[in-house]
Amino acid sequence: MIVRRLLLLSCFVVCVQCKQPNILFIVADDLGWNDVSFRNPNMITPNIDRLAKQGVIFDSSYALPAGCPSRSAFLSGKYPFRTGLQHVGIQPYQNVCLPLEITTLPQQLKNAGYSTHAVGKWHLGFCNLNCTPTYRGFDSFLGYYNAKEDHYTHDSGQFYDLHDDQRPAWEYQGKYSTFFFTTRAQEIISAHDVNTPLFLYLPFQNPHGPVEVPSIYSDLYPNVVNNGRKIFSGMVTILDEAIGNITQTLDDKGILQDTLILFTSDNGAELLNYGNNYPLRGSKHSLWEGGTRVTAFMSGYGLQQTGITYKGLIHAIDWMPTLIGAAGAEQVLGMDGINQWDAIRMNIPSNRTEFIYNLDDFEIPSQGHAGIRVGDMKLLLGYPGTFDGWYTPMNDTTDTPVYEMVYNPSHPDIPARLFNITADPTERNDMATTNPDIVKDLTSRITANRKLMVPAKYPTDDPKAKTIAEDNGGVFSPGWC
Ligand SMILES: *[C@@H]1O[C@H](CO)[C@@H](O)[C@H](O)[C@H]1NC(C)=O
Ligand SMILES: *[C@@H]1O[C@H](CO)[C@@H](O)[C@H](O)[C@H]1NC(C)=O
Ligand SMILES: *[C@@H]1O[C@H](CO)[C@@H](O)[C@H](O)[C@H]1NC(C)=O
Ligand SMILES: *[C@@H]1O[C@H](CO)[C@@H](O)[C@H](O)[C@H]1NC(C)=O
Repeated sequence: MIVRRLLLLSCFVVCVQCKQPNILFIVADDLGWNDVSFRNPNMITPNIDRLAKQGVIFDSSYALPAGCPSRSAFLSGKYPFRTGLQHVGIQPYQNVCLPLEITTLPQQLKNAGYSTHAVGKWHLGFCNLNCTPTYRGFDSFLGYYNAKEDHYTHDSGQFYDLHDDQRPAWEYQGKYSTFFFTTRAQEIISAHDVNTPLFLYLPFQNPHGPVEVPSIYSDLYPNVVNNGRKIFSGMVTILDEAIGNITQTLDDKGILQDTLILFTSDNGAELLNYGNNYPLRGSKHSLWEGGTRVTAFMSGYGLQQTGITYKGLIHAIDWMPTLIGAAGAEQVLGMDGINQWDAIRMNIPSNRTEFIYNLDDFEIPSQGHAGIRVGDMKLLLGYPGTFDGWYTPMNDTTDTPVYEMVYNPSHPDIPARLFNITADPTERNDMATTNPDIVKDLTSRITANRKLMVPAKYPTDDPKAKTIAEDNGGVFSPGWC
């Protein structure tokens, strides 16, 4: 009894001491390592650069090789191989969603008193109403359920996909998403009651394909000869402008200094959509560093050392416990991630010494893969993924170079590749044959993790999905699982 009282008392002391910061969690879609101007002077991202340079740039922040698995990790703190979301991503007609028993990041922040809002891409399933954002912890949602869609028409394949909470939001048809996502974020901030902490999750559509942007943004790149790369670059710059506008609104509201901003890409750039990861190897959908080591930074509230690059290992599964830590809220049991808030804000070594890049079923021919990092060393098993070379930003009048890249879906699985990422971050020197002991040790760690793996949920299309969309006036809608 006395112990319990002491615990309650100490908890109370902790809670009155710490202020709950507002949290702005910005996710860029398919932004590459080499697609921001703090790395590549040919890009135009002044707002991102300013926030990053005033904050902490992450040198070794990793995500999954594709967006849906990463988003599931961001909002659950769990590896996708433990939730069945490790394989590519939920397709429009698959009756799959992030398992409902999982407590999400917004749910836990809501439990701690936060007001929670999401604007942008969901991609964590929508076959049942209970899978959708406002049933997973968000007070409001404006955005789309699927992986990708036209930036203007909001057609995601066969049907319209833009929702304001549950309502099909037809009024945005024909409007470029970055503009109205920005406006909605600004409205949420302006209307916010400052006595309550705010959690705003902003998974933008840009710069994901299809490559489309109002020409005033691509025209900022007269020296880029390749038209795809020129438009892609404009898509990055409008995203940067959006971030500038939103941080300005936070400032106008007088809450910028009380706000912690986390910015991350969901995976490396998709080379086919003109993104770029140079000098890192590979593309989105691969376990190479180019697919998984992402552009990310934190800025704002609580950071004690700024203007630095943080070298410690961070994985996508760490963001949920880290943001909960920054909020001073109670951690959720059973997460795979660790709270990196102290490490980041004080610039001390990360407690993460090991992570799984991904584990996907080996049974699917030439799609199965596994990757692990332990300290300096990285082991890859199976087929690492599409495009396994090093590619500078496209700047040619034709797109030929893209199609000349190595793409071989029947690529034979190579037993093991081993790299020292500290010494060789661009993965040019495979050390597997000369280091059989390290290969054996890391393989056994993968085997141990595989015991925790649930099979990937990747069912065939459910015809009910289409019927429901048709019954709802041609809008992707829940209600078929
Ligand atoms: C692209 O190529 C053109 C013509 O060779 C050159 O003038 C320009 O500087 C290049 N731009 C970039 C961004 O590399
Ligand atoms: C940012 O704000 C400016 C000034 O209001 C506006 O012209 C521009 O369209 C906004 N951009 C975005 C992406 O919201
Ligand atoms: C690392 O973990 C230990 C044990 O849980 C903890 O005491 C320490 O504060 C952590 N360090 C950082 C940087 O988070
Ligand atoms: C990996 O590279 C680092 C940095 O060069 C070096 O200190 C370390 O000994 C290397 N490890 C192995 C196993 O080669």
